[in-house]
Amino acid sequence: MTLIGPSLMCADMGNLQESVMRLDRAGVDFFHLDIMDGSFVPNFTMGPDLIKRIRQFSDKPFDVHLMVERPEDHLDLFIQSGADMISIHAEATAHLQRSLQKLKNDGIKAGVALNPSTPITELEHVLDVVDYVTVMTVNPGFAGQSFVPLMYKKIKKIKELIQSEGYQIDIQVDGNIGFETIPGVLKNGADMLVCGTSCLFKNDVLLEDAVGQLRAFLE
Ligand code: DX5
Ligand code: ZN
Repeated sequence: MTLIGPSLMCADMGNLQESVMRLDRAGVDFFHLDIMDGSFVPNFTMGPDLIKRIRQFSDKPFDVHLMVERPEDHLDLFIQSGADMISIHAEATAHLQRSLQKLKNDGIKAGVALNPSTPITELEHVLDVVDYVTVMTVNPGFAGQSFVPLMYKKIKKIKELIQSEGYQIDIQVDGNIGFETIPGVLKNGADMLVCGTSCLFKNDVLLEDAVGQLRAFLE
């Protein structure tokens, strides 16, 4: 089954409790929480205290996407905030294997995020400690960016790599995932859709029955 994960930075950040509860009731599969440090990407979003604050409003997995330099310095903070899954950018650390191993040891689902131009060879020597790969289908930092067309082929290549090595690793796609791009990402092997302004939200507002319409589109 294709998993739907709203990107909460696209929701009404002034009333995340209501957004989380509405999305939970609507039956989303996970929540995607974008963390930005103004250095790895030129933007800031939320932090561990906000994650801790909204944790109580849903039991669905919290997927924390760390768009930060040296993520290894901050893993415990986000684990303690209530993260169930954490993706770290291969481009942001000299210690990818060690960081992923730590997440696994701490019972957290470990993800590797790859910017559009980052080759998939970054995955080769960590496949045994990866639970999911976050394929950035836009250049990270802001919602509403344009899909990078070569990412369709990249998703396919990652799927082939995972299957040829015999691992069970999900492929998450993140950025401009909407009705135009979903058929192509699914055809090439995506399993988890991070959904923001391209299908669930408009001007920070959750569209009426957006999850239901997306679910129907996926059938
Ligand atoms: C961008 C973030 C995405 C983004 C998705 O850097 O990682 O999660 O919020 O928003 P849309 O779907 O509008 O691209
Ligand atoms: Zn993200």
